[in-house]
Amino acid sequence: MTNYFPENFLWGGATAANQLEGGWDKGGKGLSVSDVYTFNSDLPKDQWTDQWHMMTYDQVNQAQDHSSNQLYPKRLGVDFYHRFKADIALFAEMGFKTYRMSIAWTRLFPKGDETEPNEAGLKFYDALFDELLKYNIIPLVSLSHYEMPLYLVTEYGGWSNRIVIDYYMQFATTVFNRYKDKVTYWIPFNEINCVKHHPYVSVGIIEENHPNIEQAKYQSAHHQFVASALATALCHQLIPDAKVGCMISYQLLVPYSCDPDDIQKTTESQRTSLFFTDVLSRGYYPSYAKRLFEEKGVTLVIEEGDLALLRAHTADFISFSYYMSSAISAHPERLESAEGNLITGGIKNPYLASSKWGWQIDPKGLRSALNQLYDRYQKPLFIAENGLGAEDVLEDGKVHDSYRIAYLSAHLSQINEALHDGVEVFGYTAWGCIDIISASTNQISKRYGFIYVDADDLGQGSYNRVKKDSFAWYKSVIQSNGNSI
Ligand code: BG6
Repeated sequence: MTNYFPENFLWGGATAANQLEGGWDKGGKGLSVSDVYTFNSDLPKDQWTDQWHMMTYDQVNQAQDHSSNQLYPKRLGVDFYHRFKADIALFAEMGFKTYRMSIAWTRLFPKGDETEPNEAGLKFYDALFDELLKYNIIPLVSLSHYEMPLYLVTEYGGWSNRIVIDYYMQFATTVFNRYKDKVTYWIPFNEINCVKHHPYVSVGIIEENHPNIEQAKYQSAHHQFVASALATALCHQLIPDAKVGCMISYQLLVPYSCDPDDIQKTTESQRTSLFFTDVLSRGYYPSYAKRLFEEKGVTLVIEEGDLALLRAHTADFISFSYYMSSAISAHPERLESAEGNLITGGIKNPYLASSKWGWQIDPKGLRSALNQLYDRYQKPLFIAENGLGAEDVLEDGKVHDSYRIAYLSAHLSQINEALHDGVEVFGYTAWGCIDIISASTNQISKRYGFIYVDADDLGQGSYNRVKKDSFAWYKSVIQSNGNSI
């Protein structure tokens, strides 16, 4: 293989605070939307993420049994809050050039609407960034990754309420000012298009409260667009060499057949995600939005100045997660559906294998994704998440995860192809570089890491860290700048 990875390629790993840190009640932290997700192994798997029904913030606090933390796996995470120094040393040992992470909003603003930040939370991230910089690992920071303050949801209605832009900007301003000398790469919102699929964790809206849910979703998205533009502007002003990127969950969609109806449906489905990068990268609502909104009965409330803001402060780079592709049919009821985190609905592609969680594995789809995004925007691309969720087995102190190596190797080879195609890709962060709690199912047993965490789905175990076989493999990939893929 001829190697096309550029010399300064940013190799690394990615996590999110709510899935990794634990310490949910330490240092003055408040409850986030993810802290109240339950896990109950007695329930059928498809009900594991059933969330508690909505109450006020204080009612939640009183009603939930805080002593049985194992019901809420994201409260424990993998105890990174206490172990981050040792974990970062392992990232450094693999040779990470970058580490994508998020800041838990509720460590800084426990309820979200306070006027002063919580100093203990700020100090935690100071120490974390210092530890990364000690090893020359460049932090790439998501401001909001499925962990908004619960209080902003229960008391304000989440992002459907425009006032949340102000609270978010207060958080962003605090963060940029405090860490301006430590962080240059920023992502205002993780997977901003996932409002489509997970409105509760993405934008904090409760479906039952909105008779026209599409209106609430797109209005919330508009508020996040405005917040992204404001954050981008402020970040550029405070940190002159900062790079601020947008981020979507990207699933390559292909027509199930050459039936023209399948082809049209695929174009429309792919647009439900590209809509978000269209707005954030080009700076305006795409022409197809008018019909989309008409058909969904959406009338956006756009304030004076909003559209000018979007135009003026577009993303510097496009980042995305990529796990799978999916086939699209105009007649899905006649066919077997694909499973998993499908933001667009999808049909099982008979040419592809699936993970245990039904995610269809398609490395070549990543090359297509990179080409499609680069053709469309001509901006640098960053692969912010990619990986295989699998059940690993710890035996005699070892984890032989050859299936993970095969998955990652195949995807990295396709990035190399895309680089050869002329696509500008400047970095790759493997998702869940250390085992963390799954976003969608709240299990730790859906593992992605190079580093095994000795804990089970009920939070029992030593939490010791064990290097999997993939650890040495990834280390050599980074060392050889992709030669040893
Ligand atoms: C992405 C999210 O959608 O997928 C992550 O940004 C998440 O937070 C990842 O963990 C993998 O999904 P899951 O459900 O397997 O954890």
